[in-house]
Amino acid sequence: MNKVIFITGSNKGIGYEIARQCGKRGFHVIISGRDEKRLKKALENLHTEKINADSLLMDVSSLESIETAASQFNSKRLKIDVLVNNAGIIIKGDYKLLQNDRNILQQTINTNSYGPLFVTKVFLPFITSPGRIVMISSGGGVLNGEVAGWSPAYCVSKTLLNAITKQLSYELKDKNISVNAVCPGWVRTDLGGSGATRSLEKGIETPVWLSLEASQELTGLFFRDKKVIPW
Ligand SMILES: NC(=O)c1ccc[n+]([C@@H]2O[C@H](COP(=O)([O-])OP(=O)(O)OC[C@H]3O[C@@H](n4cnc5c(N)ncnc54)[C@H](OP(=O)(O)O)[C@@H]3O)[C@@H](O)[C@H]2O)c1
Repeated sequence: MNKVIFITGSNKGIGYEIARQCGKRGFHVIISGRDEKRLKKALENLHTEKINADSLLMDVSSLESIETAASQFNSKRLKIDVLVNNAGIIIKGDYKLLQNDRNILQQTINTNSYGPLFVTKVFLPFITSPGRIVMISSGGGVLNGEVAGWSPAYCVSKTLLNAITKQLSYELKDKNISVNAVCPGWVRTDLGGSGATRSLEKGIETPVWLSLEASQELTGLFFRDKKVIPW
């Protein structure tokens, strides 16, 4: 049976491209997102490329939605070899923590930080041992250096995601499930914008490597360009 990779937020952008590349390498891919129409179209496109793919409608900022998706997944009688927590947002108007509407911080953290935590928790019974969890983080969350100065709620949410990654790597060590974070670089997507310096193909290189090829021993680490970087 083909190995299964489940990628959140994969009806477009980095998540979709990870799904496509892993699908081409023989994985059964499960794509996901909130926008049902876009999800359907993405699934059709993968099928056109003869990729073995299914979809799950899921909003990672809602525990109820995650639980509903998990019970639908359960009926497929599949296991998950690789979980990629990729879904993420930057909310318009995320300029200053002291000036932002409170909802901006809450919604950003619910999606970018608690989302990956609760998806991991709810889908954990399906994850194989050995297994892999990849968190799509960002250089914006790094604390080792100057503050980037852009989208502060987003950056805080990725710092929290990094901390969650580290804790989960410890908690899942005895199950032989690796948990790592990755910065894809600045990638041309709807979120990254057209002025970003990296193509999608370049941006997904390290996430795909971590999902498929990196040593199972590597866990609790933060990567960029297949190299460990400081948190
Ligand atoms: N692009 C960059 O330069 C860059 C750099 C560093 C890190 N990243 C990270 O890479 C990841 C993917 O970003 P991207 O650039 O590919 O962005 P994108 O093109 O905007 O795609 C975001 C994806 O996340 C989904 N999503 C958003 N909110 C969601 C929610 N609440 N529940 C479920 N799915 C949700 C979207 O689908 P729906 O709207 O249908 O839900 C979409 O599939 C994010 O975590 C981002 O922070 C990106």
